[in-house]
Amino acid sequence: MAKVLVVGGAGYIGSHMVKRLLQEGEEVIVLDNLSSGYREAVGDAMLIEGSAGDRKVLRELFGTYKIDLVMHFASFIEVGESVRSPAKYYRNNVASTLELLHAMTAVGVNRFVFSSSAAVYGAAEPEPITEEHRCAPLNPYGRTKWMVEQVLQDYDVAYGLKAMSLRYFNAAGADPDGELGERHDPESHLIPLVLQAASGRRESIKVFGRDYPTPDGTCIRDYVHVCDLCEAHLLAMRNLLEGGESRTYNLGNGNGFSVSEVIAAARRVTGAGIKVEDAERRPGDPPMLVADSSKIRRELGWKPQYAGLETIISHAWAWEGKQGGRMKAEGQGGRMKDEG
Ligand code: UFG
Repeated sequence: MAKVLVVGGAGYIGSHMVKRLLQEGEEVIVLDNLSSGYREAVGDAMLIEGSAGDRKVLRELFGTYKIDLVMHFASFIEVGESVRSPAKYYRNNVASTLELLHAMTAVGVNRFVFSSSAAVYGAAEPEPITEEHRCAPLNPYGRTKWMVEQVLQDYDVAYGLKAMSLRYFNAAGADPDGELGERHDPESHLIPLVLQAASGRRESIKVFGRDYPTPDGTCIRDYVHVCDLCEAHLLAMRNLLEGGESRTYNLGNGNGFSVSEVIAAARRVTGAGIKVEDAERRPGDPPMLVADSSKIRRELGWKPQYAGLETIISHAWAWEGKQGGRMKAEGQGGRMKDEG
């Protein structure tokens, strides 16, 4: 049994990870400041309320518990916001991560699984993208992830820190048991927004640009189920605990779907007529991002269980079904704010 610290374990991907680790019988401690996560999402895991960059909290935490490995999910994730407020992103995603790494290495905790992103690549060609592709992020968000990856490489050489950098493509879907799902506020991701339009919590879905160099003119992404991401983390964790070396892996299914294809799939899954509005391109969106994930399949034996787009959407749809009722119970009337 390993003692795992999950930083950001109350958020979307982190909470699915906590559930999976508990199922595996691991001992889990969550560090989360609940700025965008939810207390109830950590289930039976121990929750320490605090920030990844808080030296005092970190010193006490690592002084009290003998942690075997740290998984780090706590970061801000909105590309557009990172362009408007880069300081927020560099302070949280980079500076806080440095504090976390400092606190870990000070007590000899030297195994780390890092949530990186396909955003490190920028606009990439040719597709699908392998890990060897040049990293040239297009926005501050992507740069924060690439900076931390470079820090991790240097810390391995100097301090022996063994780290897995997992570059997620488009995380989507929800816990098949229906207990957990995506709950960003405001929501900016395509699949949950399309499903809010299907359930009536939102009037319509805006399609950001139809003039991209893709077959139907809308952007293409590689959607990967949140539970498949968690399985990759488990494999990465086991590998590190068995003495594995630092690695970087892409996590995607290798299938690209356009925005129009996602909306069509959501219509099939939900049976709802989803109203579509055409809108301007969203700044910073690359036309296409599709992963070549053969490296992690080959080296760690990763095999996604929920690779189909309709499966991903149907799990997210079951979760969406619970949200209207939950929001009414919390007095929010079940309607969403429109973030434009
Ligand atoms: N889109 C719309 N309408 C919407 C929302 C999104 O047309 O209302 C489009 C976007 O323009 C994009 C696609 O749907 O073409 C997917 O957009 P998401 O916001 O769901 O996801 P992104 O591809 O922008 O971003 C995701 C993660 C980021 C990460 C990035 C890396 O959210 O954190 O993948 O590829 F950086």
